[in-house]
Amino acid sequence: MFYILALFFFSLIYILMAKITYITHDNKVHSIEVQNGLTVMEGAVQNDIPGIDADCGGGMACATCHVYVKEEWLDKLPIKEDGEEDMLDMAFEPKKNSRLSCQLVVSDDLNGLIVNIPSKQG
Ligand code: FES
Repeated sequence: MFYILALFFFSLIYILMAKITYITHDNKVHSIEVQNGLTVMEGAVQNDIPGIDADCGGGMACATCHVYVKEEWLDKLPIKEDGEEDMLDMAFEPKKNSRLSCQLVVSDDLNGLIVNIPSKQG
């Protein structure tokens, strides 16, 4: 019985994952499975992706989790809140596809998301 339950929960956890691809400034590609409910930033930190320091721990107060989202994903992401826009104004070379990865909550809808990490954070 224990093994059946363990297998069930392991399967459930695996199902509730989304593949997120992080591309560092030197074009190294890191594709990882991130648990739904975590943020894109937390997925990076937990998997030691270089370039996302997340100094404020997701408090939207540092911009060290700044990423560039692939254009085709922009419409699929939640709209930026004012605080995120303000913080991105202080980020290194913000662009129209800039996002704070700590504000992007992973879900099935983000399965396949690709983000580039700015060179300054390398
Ligand atoms: S972790 Fe600091 S703003 Fe995202």
